[in-house]
Amino acid sequence: MNQHHIEVAICRKTFANNIRTLRDRIAPAKLCIVMKANAYGHGLRGLAPIAVEAGADYIGICTNPEAAIVRELGLDITLMRLRMGFPDEFEESIDDLNIEEQIGSIAAADYLSAAGTKRGQPIPVHVNIDTGMGRSGFFPFQVEDLKKVCRLPGLRIVGIMTHFASADGQDLAFTQQQLEAFHRLRNALNNYLPDDVLTHTHNSAATVRLTPHCNSLVRVGAAAYGVRTSQEFKKLSGIAASHVCEN
Ligand SMILES: Cc1ncc(COP(=O)(O)O)c(C=O)c1O
Repeated sequence: MNQHHIEVAICRKTFANNIRTLRDRIAPAKLCIVMKANAYGHGLRGLAPIAVEAGADYIGICTNPEAAIVRELGLDITLMRLRMGFPDEFEESIDDLNIEEQIGSIAAADYLSAAGTKRGQPIPVHVNIDTGMGRSGFFPFQVEDLKKVCRLPGLRIVGIMTHFASADGQDLAFTQQQLEAFHRLRNALNNYLPDDVLTHTHNSAATVRLTPHCNSLVRVGAAAYGVRTSQEFKKLSGIAASHVCEN
């Protein structure tokens, strides 16, 4: 029995307007709308088509079932996994779901390299650097490992990224430190990365509070739904809670 019957009405127009506002702010960078966890509980099936229509370049998911929903909808959109996948997930996703995977360890890089080589089709991957989030990723001191990863066969490196631990906190000093560590490493890898590699660090709070222009892609969840994870969001007009129809 479902003891938690909760219904939320989402205003599609507000959600679309939020995405357009973010699009304008970050242009010419690409926009990834983070829709993991059933679009933060707002309903992936209903909102994914609106995100695409409003100009998202990417949808960020975590699980294969989430990716399968987007694929069933037949949307022409690139999918990015926002955490490192597991081998059994890769086996399902590589052939059927066409997800750009995240790699943050030698083991994952080797696994996908072997899978891409075996299929004769490189696997698109984003290299995740742990600059302080402490969740997963290569550490900035692993420069030599990363140079080897960049040269692995069977992989196509499409992005290099990090995730902020506290960009919604009052003090941005730690976020700035993360950003500097990331860009130092990214520069050290310059000759090893493809020219068109996507550089992405910013979540909602960073996109609203810092200049997004050091990124060629931003990954925004909360702000797209109008969830103000930081008081500073007040500074960005055009973002409204997506359960409110203001227009
Ligand atoms: C890797 C990654 N990037 C971006 C985001 C989006 O964060 P926010 O909802 O604060 O925009 C998330 C969400 O947790 C994430 O895991």
